[in-house]
Amino acid sequence: MSTLKVNGSRIFDLVDNKAFETLQNDINLSYSQLIQKTGKGNDFLGWLLLATETLNSTLIKEINIEAKKIQQQSEIVVVVGIGGSYLGTRAVIEALSSNFHSFQKNDTPEIIYAGQNISEDYLFDLLELLNTKEYSIIVISKSGTTTEPALAFRLLKNHLEKKYGKKNAKDRITAITDKEKGALKKLADKEGYTTFVIPDDVGGRYSVLTPVGLLPIAMAGFDIEKLLLGADQMQKELYTSSDLLENPACMYAAARNMLYRDKKSVEIFVSYQPNLHYLSEWWKQLFGESEGKDHKGIFTASVNFTTDLHSLGQYIQDGKRMVFETMLHIDAPKHTLKVPFVDEDADELNFMANKRINDVNKMAALGTTIAHTDGGVPIIDIHLPEMNEYNLGELLYFFEFTCGVSGYMLGVNPFDQPGVEAYKNNMFALLGKPGFEEKQKEILRKIT
Ligand code: PA5
Repeated sequence: MSTLKVNGSRIFDLVDNKAFETLQNDINLSYSQLIQKTGKGNDFLGWLLLATETLNSTLIKEINIEAKKIQQQSEIVVVVGIGGSYLGTRAVIEALSSNFHSFQKNDTPEIIYAGQNISEDYLFDLLELLNTKEYSIIVISKSGTTTEPALAFRLLKNHLEKKYGKKNAKDRITAITDKEKGALKKLADKEGYTTFVIPDDVGGRYSVLTPVGLLPIAMAGFDIEKLLLGADQMQKELYTSSDLLENPACMYAAARNMLYRDKKSVEIFVSYQPNLHYLSEWWKQLFGESEGKDHKGIFTASVNFTTDLHSLGQYIQDGKRMVFETMLHIDAPKHTLKVPFVDEDADELNFMANKRINDVNKMAALGTTIAHTDGGVPIIDIHLPEMNEYNLGELLYFFEFTCGVSGYMLGVNPFDQPGVEAYKNNMFALLGKPGFEEKQKEILRKIT
């Protein structure tokens, strides 16, 4: 049995038996499209059974060997990538790390990220930092042609080669990309970088359990086998039934689609732990990029409580009634810390003295749930007993599977992202990329 628990069933109290039956029928159809691979985008379903396949292969061993090599030679590792080639990695590493370091043990390097923006100051500051550190690069791009990581990698490669010499620099670069296509693959072959493959049938935002996530996560000192075992367990559980009161992914997919049909068009992902910020970012991309198309889809947003109760909390409680929340609760923290008793009680907090900080956080969550429910905001709760590799593996797979079922329920292809091209084409035209002359004329007519 998996350890993850979803409580979305109270959402179904809002509908009568007939509507509930329709929901179950819709779920049955989408569920079978997903696992029978008969729906739209079915050539991108390699992630469904990926954990089992990886556990049965030599890949974990190969990744751990490469991770060790990188650890030994680096104080810092720069992970270069954007979107699905970056967010899952960062989500897992930050969720498992100390809040103040991006690694598990002191003998593992600090991890920093590049290629996820085009900020000159960010890249300048990065190169300044790397002047004084021993470092390596993991460059990740499935297409191998994405501008942001390609640009950052060009700068970093230059810097690395100047620092270590071309011959030594090549041993400090690992490329994760397509098995044959793209500029990065060509460059990696020419320069002789160690390379790992992103499977053809796994799209970016579903790729965290491929080398895209596994290598940096292993390198940060975490147990990738446990992560995969968690995902594998969740896959087995989700494959047993599409009953939406039994299958947590079907329950979540049904609840969010029901709310969307009821004009709740914004879903806010809520976490109560600051180191889950990037898990929220990954979740937003997963659902937002998968479902936001054909002028449909839930807009995905996120908040971190209690921090954001002092900013967006007001809107959620009292603003336009178009939102619902999905709250992720991590039941037990990794460490123990109690509220101290102080004689003078100047801050008047002695009433909570000797309580664990986590109990205070839990009461904040419960208080918020009651207030938001009273304020007309439906809430779906997801509980993990604690944060560790295994439970996180379950959670990642659970979200990916839900997203597939939910996207099919909505009637879209959850595995493509045609809308992402629009800004890129304009940017290329504006920068004068060969082949974009017509587009450039069209844009200039619009803006002059
Ligand atoms: O989910 C996706 O497919 C995208 O977010 C991609 O991961 C992102 O655009 C980066 O693409 P690539 O890995 O080809 O550089």
